[in-house]
Amino acid sequence: MATVVLRNLCKSYTSGQDAVKNVNLEIADKEFLVLVGPSGCGKSTTLRMVAGLEDITSGEILIDNQIVNDVPAKNRDIAMVFQNYALYPHMTVYENMAFALKLRKYPHREIERRVQDAAEILGLGNPTMLKRKPKELSGGERQRVAVGRAIVRKPKVFLFDEPLSNLDAKLRVQMRMELQKLHTRLQSTMIYVTHDQVEALTLGDRIVVMNKGSVQQVADPVMLYENPVNQFVAGFIGSPPMNFLRGRIAGQNADYYFQDRGIKLRLLPQHTAHMARFRDKEVILGIRPEDIYDKIFAQDARPEFTITATVDVVEPMGAEIYLYLNAGNNNFVARVTNQDTATINQDLQVVFDMSKAHFFDSETQIAIF
Ligand SMILES: Nc1ncnc2c1ncn2[C@@H]1O[C@H](COP(=O)(O)OP(=O)(O)O)[C@@H](O)[C@H]1O
Ligand SMILES: [Mg+2]
Repeated sequence: MATVVLRNLCKSYTSGQDAVKNVNLEIADKEFLVLVGPSGCGKSTTLRMVAGLEDITSGEILIDNQIVNDVPAKNRDIAMVFQNYALYPHMTVYENMAFALKLRKYPHREIERRVQDAAEILGLGNPTMLKRKPKELSGGERQRVAVGRAIVRKPKVFLFDEPLSNLDAKLRVQMRMELQKLHTRLQSTMIYVTHDQVEALTLGDRIVVMNKGSVQQVADPVMLYENPVNQFVAGFIGSPPMNFLRGRIAGQNADYYFQDRGIKLRLLPQHTAHMARFRDKEVILGIRPEDIYDKIFAQDARPEFTITATVDVVEPMGAEIYLYLNAGNNNFVARVTNQDTATINQDLQVVFDMSKAHFFDSETQIAIF
């Protein structure tokens, strides 16, 4: 059993800025929770406070319902894996993995068994591998040793701080799958920090999106993708990012349109109740690139969901094509099939799937519904 609770957690460095602002989170036993957000948003600071490597300015951290604010790092029964691996260069793979157990005076037999088990799990079991020094390892192997060092301790909670950021793209995808398997196998509580939203979506049972020290939204991957609570989350999750078009709500008698120069899109009945108070006001329409279609492939689409856009750039991506489009004051991207034949400078009829549209208050950036 290992639950982790953060209550009103704050951190201000002496330089005066607030790195973490009033974070509240409850991490369930065996959960894989991912903290994601841009560089500098307070992810590492949060994780380091959980580990006991950083003082807490205010608030509480509970592990298994015990307040641990004043418990030193070594007594928290937590293992942390860092981006830079932090291996001891003069020790072999075996010694690196065994080190924490030796410090804690585990019997020799037990150390050997645990290191061997961890090495097997991570594909490092080969005796010649265990005798190598970190400089004789590839990036991926070093990362495995760093994870192995955490596993041998059988901690209550694993903390990962961008553990895959130093690996090349292919290895990152492979290690991502291995970490998933590891979680299934160990059934431990894991808190994982990354700036990479793809990594967050693929790994997390639940994802915490942070910005400027504050939690923006906590949700499972699908919820986060489909129901972002504000423009920050909407723009951060998804690639290419959600398009944001500026316009205003026009119309009457519950017959409303989103309008701007060169754009007129009818709102659906489910929008109208929410949008009435924004009549004649500016709003932001959010729509993902995959929810905009070339009219050629959406023949039966109604004209009130169709606009004419100029094709600025055509970017073939293999299975699909990204079309960079312009209509009046707004630029946006459509993700279309590779069968699409649109060309640069062409005036293209594009259809918006308005059932997938999001609307944000242009002043607060908060989702309107
Ligand atoms: N030791 C420190 N002293 C002063 N400011 C720090 C220190 N560590 C981090 N910060 C600042 O706190 C903020 C959050 O940093 P960090 O938690 O490392 O962000 P992230 O891991 O999300 O990139 C940043 O503005 C960073 O500059
Ligand atoms: Mg960091």
